[in-house]
Amino acid sequence: MYLVVGATGPVGLGGEICRQLRAVGQPVRALVRPTANADRLSSLARIGVEFIKGDLRNRRSLDEACRGIETVISTASMMVSRQDGDTVENVDGTGQNDLIEAANAAGVPSFVYVSFSKHIDRDFPFRNAKRAVEQRLKHSRLAYTILRPTFLMEVWLNPIAGFDFREAHARIYGLGRNPISWISMDDVARFAVISLGTPLARNATFELGGPEAISPLETVRIFEEVSGRRFQLEFVSEEALEEQQQNAPDSLQRSLAGLSRCYAAGDVIDMTAILKSFPMALTSVRDYARGVLEKI
Ligand SMILES: NC(=O)c1ccc[n+]([C@@H]2O[C@H](COP(=O)([O-])OP(=O)(O)OC[C@H]3O[C@@H](n4cnc5c(N)ncnc54)[C@H](OP(=O)(O)O)[C@@H]3O)[C@@H](O)[C@H]2O)c1
Repeated sequence: MYLVVGATGPVGLGGEICRQLRAVGQPVRALVRPTANADRLSSLARIGVEFIKGDLRNRRSLDEACRGIETVISTASMMVSRQDGDTVENVDGTGQNDLIEAANAAGVPSFVYVSFSKHIDRDFPFRNAKRAVEQRLKHSRLAYTILRPTFLMEVWLNPIAGFDFREAHARIYGLGRNPISWISMDDVARFAVISLGTPLARNATFELGGPEAISPLETVRIFEEVSGRRFQLEFVSEEALEEQQQNAPDSLQRSLAGLSRCYAAGDVIDMTAILKSFPMALTSVRDYARGVLEKI
C-alpha cells in the first residue's frame, strides 16, 4: 500500500501520481484534509483511492496514516493550496519532518519526497525548508528517493503565476531571456512512479527537467504560434522582486519572491544521463501549449 500526501491540490502532482499508480493496479491511500476539494476527492474515489483523514500539522494523524504502508510519497506543500494557520514553516518544514518521523516510527521501508531543483538556491524560507527536509530524510532509517524538478509548466506557464493563456497575457519574471528546462507535472509523476521499486532510485536524488531549455520569451512565442494570438507581456524586474523579497510581510511572500528570482535567473537541467536509466518521451512546452489551448 502506498501513502500519497498531497493528492488533492489544484495543480495536481499528487493526484496524478495516484492515477498512474491505480492504472497499474497498485493500492493507494491518500491523506486528505476535511477541507479537501470535493470534485478532486470524487475523482480519486472513482479510481479506487482510499482515504485517511489527516494533516501534516497533526502528528497523530500521520502515525495512523503510515500504518501498514510500503512507501510514503509526499508532494504536499502550502505554497499554492493552504488553509488558515498554514505556514511554510509548519507545513513544508515541521509538517514534512513529522511525516518522516511518523514513517520511521511505523517501520515504513521507503519514502519519496518531491523537492525542487538544486539551482533554486537562494536564501528564502521555502527553499530552506525543502533542503532541511531532504537532509532529515537522508539521515533517517528510510530508503529515500528525492525528486528535484525544475519549474512546472502547470504552475509557471499557467494563470496561477500570471501566464494567462486564456487572455493572451503573460507575466514574465526578469527579462525573460534565461532558459529553463520547464517540466510537466505528468512527467514528474511518471518519474515518481518509475522510481518505486527500482534499485537505481534507492537512496538517490534526481534533478528533473523537460526535453528542452527555453527562455520565458520563447515560451510566449510558442503559445502565440499555437494559439494564433499575440500575447501582451508584463515584466516584473529583478530589482522589484528583490525589493519584494526584502520587504515581504511573511515567509510565504518572501518565498514567492525568492522563487520568482530563481525563475528570472533560469534553470537548465541536462536530462541525458537520467533518460538513459529511465527512457521516456518528455512533454515539450509546445505539447503542453496545445493541450491547454485546446481546452479553452
Ligand atoms: N510549482 C513548481 O514549479 C514546482 C517545482 C518543483 C517542485 N514543486 C513541488 O511539487 C509538489 C507538488 O506541487 P503541486 O503544485 O502539485 O501542489 P498542489 O496542487 O498545490 O497540492 C498541494 C497539496 O498539499 C496539500 N497540503 C497542503 N498543506 C497540507 C497540510 N497541512 N497537511 C496535508 N496536506 C497539505 C494540499 O492539500 P489540500 O488539497 O487539502 O489543500 C494539496 O493536496 C510540491 O512539493 C512543490 O513544492 C513544484
